[in-house]
Amino acid sequence: MWILLNDYYILGRVISLVVSDHSKVRTERNLYTVQEHPGMTRYTSNIKDVMVDNLEGFFAGWINPLTPEQHYCHLKACAYFVAALDSSKVVGFVSAISDGIGCAFIPLIEVLPKYQRQGIGTELMRQMLDKLKCMNAIDLMCDENVKGF
Ligand SMILES: CC(C)(COP(=O)(O)OP(=O)(O)OC[C@H]1O[C@@H](n2cnc3c(N)ncnc32)[C@H](O)[C@@H]1OP(=O)(O)O)[C@@H](O)C(=O)NCCC(=O)NCCS
Repeated sequence: MWILLNDYYILGRVISLVVSDHSKVRTERNLYTVQEHPGMTRYTSNIKDVMVDNLEGFFAGWINPLTPEQHYCHLKACAYFVAALDSSKVVGFVSAISDGIGCAFIPLIEVLPKYQRQGIGTELMRQMLDKLKCMNAIDLMCDENVKGF
């Protein structure tokens, strides 16, 4: 009896693993889903959710900051990006350049000053690392002062 119940338990586990794996694959393939999170911030990897006019205020302190048009082109050309949206305004983003197989480089992550220290940078990085989880190597360089992040 115990063996039978145990067999059913194992069968149940296998089915639930197959079902959850299947939904995971569907989620991973759907790179363009807007993900809702508690609070005001939404996260997207769909370039259609990003408007040039809503890309103001980034590259703070840069000598040659990208214009919103250049920023838009960067996001469009990158292998992966995640943007944080407050309504339709982009308030943070992270991008990655990759061969799509084994290696990736994260060149940029930025959250607008008004939105910093609310967990947005962490969530952007979490979602990006989830996209890059199949990579053998992920490179990232940052300024000394944000090493803590
Ligand atoms: C670095 C950056 C992306 C962090 O974004 P964020 O949304 O403020 O980060 P989070 O709110 O998720 O912070 C999580 C934790 O990281 C650490 N952290 C965040 N910003 C930090 C900073 N500037 N310096 C040191 N540690 C930092 C803190 O421990 C923080 O937790 P706490 O607020 O409870 O202390 C943001 O400060 C930023 O855009 N900076 C300017 C651009 C930049 O430096 N980009 C990275 C180099 S290219």
